[in-house]
Amino acid sequence: MGQNPDANTGPNPKHVAIIMDGNGRWAQKQGLARNEGHRAGVRNVENIVNACRDLNVPFLTLYAFSAENWNRPRLEVEALMHLLEQFLKKQRGNLLENGIRLRVLGRLEEMPGRVRKQLEQTLADTAHFTDSNLSLALNYGSRTEVVDAVKSYALACQRGDVDPEKIDWETFASHLYTADLPDPDLVIRTSGEQRISNFLLLQSAYAEYLFPEKFWPEFGVEDLAAAIQSYRQRERRHGKTGEQVKNERLTTQR
Ligand code: FPP
Repeated sequence: MGQNPDANTGPNPKHVAIIMDGNGRWAQKQGLARNEGHRAGVRNVENIVNACRDLNVPFLTLYAFSAENWNRPRLEVEALMHLLEQFLKKQRGNLLENGIRLRVLGRLEEMPGRVRKQLEQTLADTAHFTDSNLSLALNYGSRTEVVDAVKSYALACQRGDVDPEKIDWETFASHLYTADLPDPDLVIRTSGEQRISNFLLLQSAYAEYLFPEKFWPEFGVEDLAAAIQSYRQRERRHGKTGEQVKNERLTTQR
């Protein structure tokens, strides 16, 4: 892995995205029911949201429920939806107090009515904030996102709003759920699994990945700080040579 020659001096990630994995195994390890793992997972979400603000990470995205998670046992899906609803009710005050904007990535219209209502209210109430941003990937899958973006783009072409000849990455990306978000710089998946599971595939084209062993409920603020430190020590080249990157850094430092 390329090390940043100016160890510790690379910039902070602007956007951290996390696949929160291991709630079930964490619960099993303690002899608890899976849903207790999800409950502990939600408590950890609350810690990590606040930690991002304190660690100067302006964009945090959490993979909270994938489009494939509907296939879990009905009772587990219901428990997750209930936890999400409770989380939103409890967190609205924190988000408003700390100026954190909430976004949803995914097919919001397919979420259960009670959760959708909480989400819509919080989305509207926090829409004016700019400095801190929390995105929840809910009912999310990258492939579905691409399909939705292609549909939206095709309809814009049909209406005559855009010229299909002029399609490029920027205009296409403006139809993704992440249209107004920067690409993730750092993607973390907890629990030691090394898979991407249909999460932000296009947006993470140049992201750095980390796969810490800890299960999500035990991935604490100090683990996030360590992950950020590890990111800062990596050299990101975006297809360029190490020499080019070094020269660019010297030019901007002048
Ligand atoms: C993976 O653990 C986690 C999930 C499928 C959902 C993540 C959800 C939460 C942390 C709670 C709800 C989120 C919010 C934002 C309120 P797993 O069940 O797959 O664990 P396992 O792989 O050990 O079985």
